[in-house]
Amino acid sequence: MTPSELPARPAPLLDVTGLCLRLATRREAYPVITGVSFSLSAGETLCIVGESGSGKTLTALSLMSLLPKGLSITQGAIVYNGADLLTLDARHRQALYGDEIAMIFQDPMSSLNPVLSVGEQLTESLVRHQPTLTRRQRESRAQQVLSQVGIRDAEVKMRSYPHELSGGLCQRILIALALVNHPRLIIADEPTTALDVTVQAQVMATLRDACANTGAALLLITHDMGLVAQHADRVAVMYAGRIVEQGPVSQVFSAPLHPYTRALLNSIPHLTSDVDRELEAIAGEPPVFSRLPAGCAFRPRCRRCRDRSLCASAIPPLRATAGDPAHTCACHFADELGDVPSLRVSEVCINHQGNSR
Ligand SMILES: Nc1ncnc2c1ncn2[C@@H]1O[C@H](COP(=O)(O)OP(=O)(O)OP(=O)(O)O)[C@@H](O)[C@H]1O
Ligand code: SF4
Ligand SMILES: [Mg+2]
Repeated sequence: MTPSELPARPAPLLDVTGLCLRLATRREAYPVITGVSFSLSAGETLCIVGESGSGKTLTALSLMSLLPKGLSITQGAIVYNGADLLTLDARHRQALYGDEIAMIFQDPMSSLNPVLSVGEQLTESLVRHQPTLTRRQRESRAQQVLSQVGIRDAEVKMRSYPHELSGGLCQRILIALALVNHPRLIIADEPTTALDVTVQAQVMATLRDACANTGAALLLITHDMGLVAQHADRVAVMYAGRIVEQGPVSQVFSAPLHPYTRALLNSIPHLTSDVDRELEAIAGEPPVFSRLPAGCAFRPRCRRCRDRSLCASAIPPLRATAGDPAHTCACHFADELGDVPSLRVSEVCINHQGNSR
């Protein structure tokens, strides 16, 4: 099949282009997100992965117009279903949130309302976004969505308050709240980090099944390469507020190009590797945004840099790699680093509690 005969990728539901964020304090102002671009089509899962502080949550909060004080978008476009959320009037934009676009936060206890029962929280959201439903229809939909996320005694749980439920159950309820209005785009920021390993797997399966059944697109934010291997169609690797590598997950795992992606993959256990193989920690400290080094931000930790003065002077642009236009990498030497560790996604140990953080 020639490239022109390949089926076209469906038009993206979400198209983020050149997103830049700046943090301004009383004393200084500096960029924290720079030139972040990605797109997501219906039914797809894109994972954004990176160390703590790389800018994953701020990227997600930008999409939801929920940036904390001091942070503002300085450039870029966030186009959802053909409309730029950055220029759309506030009323139309707010109508999308909680309806077509839903977000699941990391910590269920602080995301749920402690003084409302589970049923009240679900029906409150239905009243706001589907005002024509009758009371009976709202209750029926609330119970239905609780069953959909694997809560067996939904009728009883409707009357429970968050503090009466386990962390795993509360996270399922957050997923139910995200799903209740049939969203087309779900943004999940580390949705299982607060849970223990066995519950993590169940909650992720619930989220994945819900997206598969409804055709929703999923933007999954994680620091855990195991989750990426298990759930993503495509992956974007973030470092110091930039995407440094992006592509289909099988391609990025089998031929990682950026030294940071390689380091992340070497820092997790592989099913097929020698049992004596030592996991490699990524040397050095994550960068501080107010004092980013000149040139490539990864340079102080990069084992491949050696004395290449280019790395210290020029920021590498994200560009398509030689073999695959869908696989992009921001490293001056992406095509010449050699020794590519080839890893199939099925070889990544899952649920290892993310030592890549
Ligand atoms: N409310 C805030 N005020 C000031 N700076 C912030 C704020 N939130 C984030 N930052 C800055 O932006 C950087 C990126 O933060 P972000 O929360 O997006 O990281 P992250 O990749 O989600 O990390 P983690 O994996 O720990 O959740 C942080 O390192 C911090 O310097
Ligand atoms: S541009 Fe240079 S410093 Fe940056 S990742 Fe590539 S080789 Fe390393
Ligand atoms: Mg975060």
